[in-house]
Order: sequence, then C-alpha cells, then structure tokens
Amino acid sequence: MSGGAESDLSRLFTLFWHPVATLEELRAAAPQPLAVTLLGRQLAVADLGPAGLAAVADRCLHRSARLSVGWVDEGTIRCGYHGWRWDAGGRCVEIPSMPDGPIPPKACLPAYDVEVAYGMVWVRLDGSAGTTIPACPAWDDAAMKVVAGAPYTWPVGAPRRVENFVDLAHFAWVHDGSLGRRDQPVPPIPSIRRRAGEMRFDYDPPDMQADDVALYGYSAYRVPMPLTVDIGFTLDPEPDGTPVRRHLWMTASPVDDATTRSFWVVARTDRHDEDDTPHLAFQDLVLAEDEPLVTNQDPPELHLDPAFEISVRTDRVSLEYRRWLRELVAAHAEGGPEAVATVLAAPRSIDAPTAPLPT
Ligand code: FES
Ligand SMILES: [Fe+2]
Repeated sequence: MSGGAESDLSRLFTLFWHPVATLEELRAAAPQPLAVTLLGRQLAVADLGPAGLAAVADRCLHRSARLSVGWVDEGTIRCGYHGWRWDAGGRCVEIPSMPDGPIPPKACLPAYDVEVAYGMVWVRLDGSAGTTIPACPAWDDAAMKVVAGAPYTWPVGAPRRVENFVDLAHFAWVHDGSLGRRDQPVPPIPSIRRRAGEMRFDYDPPDMQADDVALYGYSAYRVPMPLTVDIGFTLDPEPDGTPVRRHLWMTASPVDDATTRSFWVVARTDRHDEDDTPHLAFQDLVLAEDEPLVTNQDPPELHLDPAFEISVRTDRVSLEYRRWLRELVAAHAEGGPEAVATVLAAPRSIDAPTAPLPT
C-alpha cells in the first residue's frame, strides 16, 4: 500500500500529537473504551475518571480480544473475555482466574500519551521529540465564538489534505464563486516564513462578492507542522467600524497512509447571536466542492520525491511544505527525534521568487 516515502512520513508523524476523537464521541462510547485508528494502529481510548485518560493498544495480551469491547472499571479497562484489568500505563493489575497471582511481568500493553484540547482527544505515539499539541488561536481568543464542525473521513493521505488547504491555485477552479474566480486563475506567490514549528504566509484573495457567512478576506495562514492549518481572516469592518475577524482551523489526523479524519472548527468575532448553522453550511459547501478532487488523487499518499509530480512556480506553498516535510524525514532518519525537534524549531524566511523555481 505504501512506498518508502509514505512509510517515512508515517514514522515521522508518530512523533506528533493527533486528534483521534471528539470528547463527545469518547463520552458516548462510555463505559466502553472508544476504538480508534491512528497511523494504522488500533487503539482503545478511555476516560478512567480520577485515573485520567488512557490510550492503549486495542488488543488484550491474553487471548487478543479487543479491549474496546470491554469496559471501564475502577479506573482501569477490563477486558470482556476473561476480565483481566489494565491500567492507563498499560500494566495488567488483575487476573480474576488467578486471584493470588502472579501477574506475568510481560503483561504490559503499549500505552500512549493522551490529552484533551479544543474539545478533542489527542494521542501521541512517541514523545521523544517533545512536540506539543498544535495551537488553535481562536480557542483562546475571548472575542471569538468557536463552533466545531463534524469530523469527516476521506480516502486520502493526511499531507494531501493539508496541501489542499494551502493550495492557492485551486480556488479559481474548484471554488469558482465561493472562494475564488475562474476568470482570475493566477494566484499570488507569497513569501513564506518558518516560525516556531509553523509555516506561515499571507494571501490576499481577488475582489469578489462573497457570501456573508463565507470565510473570505485577507488571510493569514499558519501551518503548525506537519498536519494542522489555521487561517485567520480579516473581513470588511462593520458599518460602525468594528473590525471583523474569523478563523478556520483544521487538523488532518492520519488514520493510515491513505485515510484522513479531518477535525475542524470555525470561529468569528461577529454575529455571536446568530444561528451557527449557515456558517457550518458554508464550510460543507466548500468541502463538497473539494471532496471529488481531493479524494481522487492517485495515489492518495503524498510522495516527497520532487520528480513524482510536475510543479510550477504557483505551487510555491506546496513546494515549501513538501521541502520542510522532506527535511523532517531526513532529520529523523539521520539524527532521530532530537534532530526532528531541531529542524522543527529552526526559523527560516523564503522570499517570493523572482524567477521560475526548479522542481
Ligand atoms: S482475552 Fe482479555 S482477558 Fe482473556
Ligand atoms: Fe478547496
């Protein structure tokens, strides 16, 4: 299913936090753990109450029953088959058929870092690069009303999902009339900065009469590497001069190399009393425009080999995104997680090109 580059990307992504469920989904599953898949690994995620959250391999080490069909019991996950109990650290703490023990020392499941942020449950498979959960600026902005969209799963690799978000040339074609104009197909080529583990650039869209619930206006993009996008929009001010700002935030959770579950929120400083439905409906319209294209890229996985697809200078953002991914993959292969942290933190400025880019 995957070539070398995709496997390299999957290995890289294990070092980062990814959302695996909304908090509501976790609560709805209780008292059973929730079964999720992250980077091809099946996990059981559960709220153990005072014992905290748990994210463990969804396979009991006794006879391989899924722990996600067990239940939470006394701050542990109890397997439904023979009742063995497992704590948040993955250790077996009880074997009902052997009340006097011993518990085999090998009875310890893989257990992963798990946290809640922005109403979502986040998991990190490998903490050795010291990564943090990506910022969601609207969440901490008191002027913003934040509304969560419904997560959606598409048959495409997560880096391609991110590329679609930052692809300035597709607006004119895929989103003619909603986010772009087909009669203005030439996008600007932005200067790009790497700051604090984020790729940042600005985009000024063509003049267009956009829907009043559209996220359309001067756009400040932040891409917390590797799989999150935050877009801060500045819209025309209210008649009384009040500034209007909105946000679209999305993180592409890599279910496996060719499947992505996107978690997203929209936020606005204006119209707090208004029904949220039209704001979400506009995003659904945009997603319906993107889906037939993004889910029909063959192969669904992003290839990092620059010769695999043909790029032109208006693919600037995508090229820089891929360049940073390549550098992170190379750092991981050569220097391990510490080298990844170094490449992630290094600032860099890439000015808008004056000549065609080599590809
Ligand atoms: S399979 Fe889990 S307790 Fe036996
Ligand atoms: Fe799009």
